[in-house]
Amino acid sequence: MALSLGWRAFAPFPMNCCGVFLKAVRSSGLPLFPWGRCPWRGTGRFLDPEMKAFLEENTEVTSSGSLTPEIQLRLLTPRCKFWWERADLWPHSDPYWAIYWPGGQALSRYLLDNPDVVRGKSVLDLGSGCGATAIAAKMSGASRILATDIDPIAGMAIILNCELNQLNPFPILIKNILDLEQDKWDLVVLGDMFYDEDLADSLHQWLKNCFWIHRTQVLIGDPGRPQFRGHSIQHQLHKVVEYSLPEPTRQENNGLTTSTVWDFQP
Ligand SMILES: C[S@@+](CC[C@H](N)C(=O)[O-])C[C@H]1O[C@@H](n2cnc3c(N)ncnc32)[C@H](O)[C@@H]1O
Repeated sequence: MALSLGWRAFAPFPMNCCGVFLKAVRSSGLPLFPWGRCPWRGTGRFLDPEMKAFLEENTEVTSSGSLTPEIQLRLLTPRCKFWWERADLWPHSDPYWAIYWPGGQALSRYLLDNPDVVRGKSVLDLGSGCGATAIAAKMSGASRILATDIDPIAGMAIILNCELNQLNPFPILIKNILDLEQDKWDLVVLGDMFYDEDLADSLHQWLKNCFWIHRTQVLIGDPGRPQFRGHSIQHQLHKVVEYSLPEPTRQENNGLTTSTVWDFQP
């Protein structure tokens, strides 16, 4: 999984402040939390206190500047120290979870505006990051949710973000789910996951299996990244809705202006 490579190519920030977000110098070194092996259930009381304090100190609670002002999130913003710091001073893995990506914003907006799409359904948020799309699914009445990511810190950020929105955290799986067989889900959602060609190929194959084995509906949010626009998955997509991105998101994403929700129909 070319996560680090993707981060540089994908760095959404203006060059004068991108140092903060470049490659971190070492991996998190965190102990394996319960959700590392199995979907985690419960409240945030098991969060490592040191890590919780680090996240609270180095992120800002915000609900502005995105397509979903009704969702509050802990994000890295210009008011955070590490926004301006040299990238190699960031002590953990690349903080994808600290950004609310335009693909996820579009998906979350769509789920909030169209609760029928998720109400009473089981939903997998693949590559959940900050967890906003899973949170939107929960707010819209999904009956079962699993947020999944490969970064354990994302798991902690998701728990904190659930609490911010007065939601009991849903199960979180920290694992490369693409290595696992497809479970039966009514809906799989993926926000901004097509940022790397190899990852895009793996996702495409995995999603095809989801669709063919379980007839799972798959919704993809993407702001028109080259790895998505140039991928063969394009022939199997139906446009659901396109959103104009808010100005702050445009500025942080090198001029991307819209983000689209696609229905995958192989
Ligand atoms: C660009 S971020 C998108 C986050 C979120 N969906 C959003 O739109 O705000 C991509 C996320 O996918 C996660 N990721 C990458 N490969 C993954 C995989 N194989 N399985 C699960 N998560 C993965 C990364 O750690 C990162 O949090």
